[in-house]
Amino acid sequence: MTAIENSKLTVVGAGSVGSSVAYAALIRGSARHVALYDIATAKVDAEVLDLAHGTQFTGSSDIIGGSDVSVAEGSHVVVITAGAKQNPGQSRIELAGVNAGILKTMMPQLLEVAPNAIYVIVTNPCDVLTVLAQEATGLPPERIFASGTVLDTSRLRWQLARRAGVSSSSVHAYIVGEHGDTEFPLWSAATIGTVPILDWETPGQPPMTTEELDDIAVNVRDAAYKVIQGKGATNYAIGLSSARIVEAILHDEHAVLPVSTVLRDYHGIDGVALSVPSIVSASGAVPVPATSFSGKEFDQLRHSADHLRQVVDTLRS
Ligand code: LAC
Repeated sequence: MTAIENSKLTVVGAGSVGSSVAYAALIRGSARHVALYDIATAKVDAEVLDLAHGTQFTGSSDIIGGSDVSVAEGSHVVVITAGAKQNPGQSRIELAGVNAGILKTMMPQLLEVAPNAIYVIVTNPCDVLTVLAQEATGLPPERIFASGTVLDTSRLRWQLARRAGVSSSSVHAYIVGEHGDTEFPLWSAATIGTVPILDWETPGQPPMTTEELDDIAVNVRDAAYKVIQGKGATNYAIGLSSARIVEAILHDEHAVLPVSTVLRDYHGIDGVALSVPSIVSASGAVPVPATSFSGKEFDQLRHSADHLRQVVDTLRS
């Protein structure tokens, strides 16, 4: 991809996720200028150097960074990954308190140097933190949203593609709701090519069953726990997912992605952030009102919303 001239992405947090976002953005040419910011000077300086040493091979993008927030000056997009990460077996929600505090400190400093940026929150629990950050900053909901279930949707499409024997780009299926334990697939709208998922015929294999789809949904929901158990964190796929979101913004793509915005009277859901198919462009992210849900899917969406609202209310109290 050719980076848009003078486009600037700042990634906040030089841990495994933030460094992977920066790495993915350099390789994909998501932005012309990539900045990596972290308060840990030695760490961020080393990550920037290591990334810079490879820029001969990454096209026109360049990398800068450091521990002074001024490195974010003039950013068009700011991706926030700073904060505590899940330990093996720990839920994302358990990180809410400590990461809400980090975000509360950071946001005013970032807005001072990048007042016009689109903010993408990756730090978990990203849906909860998005509500708090949107309220604290007063930014319009379209300009501060979370990566949400873009990653979970990629996990779903990868599993379905392998089962169906097709490219994942031909799997049109979404995970929506919380980026977490209450997420769920929109099976009612899932197709492979134009074929409804349960009608797909994989040569030499029986049709998929609802039980098999349920198993796939559980595998997707629990995927991060499995990776974290084995390697201590997830980073590559969230790095690539975040770079994809950045590209949709900087290239003004108007791409439909399941990012998490603070919903306003969205099918009766209000004031909570969760992922639904949304149009992502240079203006930010706007949910697609015409997305349809089955009765069961509506119940699952409301359950996800109620769960997230309860966590936000707890943090507010
Ligand atoms: C995951 C983290 C990014 O799902 O929440 O891998």
